[in-house]
Amino acid sequence: KSFDDRTDTGASADQMTNKVFVHGMPDDTSWSAQVSRLREANEVEHSEQLYNEGHVVDEEEMPIRVIVRKRPMSKREASASDSVDVIQPLTYNNYGRVLVYQPKTRVDLTKEIETLPFAFDNVFDEVSSNLDIYDSTVRNLIPGVFDGKWASVFAYGQTGSGKTFTMMGSGLTGKKAGNQRNDDSENFGLYYLAAQDLFKQANQRRNQHISVGASLFEIYGGKLFDLLNNRHPIKCLEDQKGKVCFPGLSEHPVSDADELMTVIEQGASKRSTGTTSANADSSRSHAVLQLSLRKQVGRQSNVEHARLSFIDLAGSERGADTDKACRTTRLEGAEINTSLLALKEVIRALATGGKMAHIPFRGSKLTQVLKQGFVGKNSRTVMVSCVAPNLSNCDHTLNTLRYADRVKERNAETGQLVGAATASSIKTSKSATTPTGNSSRPARSSFSETENIDDEEDDEPNEEMDANDSYSMEELVSEDEDDDSAVLNNILSQTSPISSPTRAGQKVKNQNKTESISSKKQAAQALIDTHRTVMTGMLGIVKHEMTLVNTTDADRDKIEDYLVDLETVHDEQLSMLSNLRESLLEYYGSRDSARPRHSDIPHNRSTDTSGVLSDGSFEDLRD
Ligand SMILES: Nc1ncnc2c1ncn2[C@@H]1O[C@H](COP(=O)(O)OP(=O)(O)OP(=O)(O)O)[C@@H](O)[C@H]1O
Ligand SMILES: [Mg+2]
Repeated sequence: KSFDDRTDTGASADQMTNKVFVHGMPDDTSWSAQVSRLREANEVEHSEQLYNEGHVVDEEEMPIRVIVRKRPMSKREASASDSVDVIQPLTYNNYGRVLVYQPKTRVDLTKEIETLPFAFDNVFDEVSSNLDIYDSTVRNLIPGVFDGKWASVFAYGQTGSGKTFTMMGSGLTGKKAGNQRNDDSENFGLYYLAAQDLFKQANQRRNQHISVGASLFEIYGGKLFDLLNNRHPIKCLEDQKGKVCFPGLSEHPVSDADELMTVIEQGASKRSTGTTSANADSSRSHAVLQLSLRKQVGRQSNVEHARLSFIDLAGSERGADTDKACRTTRLEGAEINTSLLALKEVIRALATGGKMAHIPFRGSKLTQVLKQGFVGKNSRTVMVSCVAPNLSNCDHTLNTLRYADRVKERNAETGQLVGAATASSIKTSKSATTPTGNSSRPARSSFSETENIDDEEDDEPNEEMDANDSYSMEELVSEDEDDDSAVLNNILSQTSPISSPTRAGQKVKNQNKTESISSKKQAAQALIDTHRTVMTGMLGIVKHEMTLVNTTDADRDKIEDYLVDLETVHDEQLSMLSNLRESLLEYYGSRDSARPRHSDIPHNRSTDTSGVLSDGSFEDLRD
């Protein structure tokens, strides 16, 4: 046989170079051999299609950038006999793809690999450094911050996938694992790299009036703790205009990146961590680093001009621990699950061009905290989805990629953006809180009021906030309410789509098959997601209502504010029910058999109670 023929029979590079080739031997059917054959074929195909003219996206037009980072195999993973690298990142000139090779064993016990493709704004392979990631995703946000644009950078992914490594750098992670590498300057974290640029610009003459303050806190079990002030509990309050403040949070003046890192290092050691099988230094909380740019405006000092936030989220699979672990860990998992679902819905709603009043910020403490950085046309967000390469992490990796894909959808084959651009794409990407669901709402008097509120809020990041403002605010969640809601959250998260590796409904074999197979499953997934988010959102609203009622009861002068707030609350509730209703109908619409008869759905009731769906829209969906 010729060399080429041998390649065709599937002999791996290893076999060709190191082993004697035996004619007529059957293909190696081990997972690793199958994956490497697929990998090679896809690599060849990729090198032929590197350049793709069609999808250039203007940076300025990209309020949300979703990227994926694959970490290298750890020594332990690499030395295990069953280790297989199942992730293949492929970069194109203006987007990236990730192929996941998922092993399947058929009923006749034959082993088969299913290739699941995803597309994102950027993908980074295992040899990419933090600096590479910084250069192509975060660096360009820094000048905007000086123009008053707010920016947020998230790290999302399962435990041990490299979130803290990405944010804090190699010098501050993996200490217990013994792989501390302080000298690896390429692997300074995004915190440090951004701070270097930020201070370089802040020290320029034209920015002399701007000072930078750093605060670092964690969100743990639905509560906030100041990591730069001995884990002092802090509150998250929202004023009548919806602005979020953190009374009690310490903000430390910093003037260069090294000073910032010293401050962060002290704070990071106070963070709640534990040990998981995948990570000796596992973070159990969401950590939020805020760099606030402040300036003097007239006679007011310390007015916030813009803010750059970094959020190192807790491991996304924590909810999966709910049944094995102790009560604390279960509650931790439940809270993390709820907050990550709420975050996804918020980012999705923003990505699809949502109206602020209908975005479910109250769904969790995390989203309440981040609200200020999200509202308005001037906000930029980067979501770094971290994945581990090994076969044993495959299910969690798929969950992470699906989460990221739902935040900002792209065609898995072509990288074409599916989303805010067209009305039809908004329809397919609809979820509980996607504000487009409101299109079928009849005009109501309160609706026009809401529009005004939206417009006001759109400009919020430009509105400067006085740090010395007195806090005439209402606390969103009281301590007592938290316990009840934790229990409820626990129930809500029992079957979280993030945590459940066996959840059906998201298999994407290839693009052509996907559309028919998965539309039904996607509709089911969307319905479940929607329902859960609505329940979570409702819970958040009830908490708010409790505070509202109590405050008004104590001080009747607040009745006017109460009435306005109540209108907004009703609006939000109706909007949520409307979305759930649409998701339900979409699900029925996607089923090609066993559709409910017209009389099975109490559409009249829905029309009466929420005024949301007309009979016409119902018929359209059914047909
Ligand atoms: N890109 C990378 N290159 C080299 N080592 C890495 C990389 N990413 C992560 N690691 C190492 O893997 C281990 C786990 O990483 P890290 O602590 O960042 O995980 P995590 O996603 O924050 O997990 P958790 O959710 O449990 O906090 C650490 O020892 C870290 O040094
Ligand atoms: Mg971590």
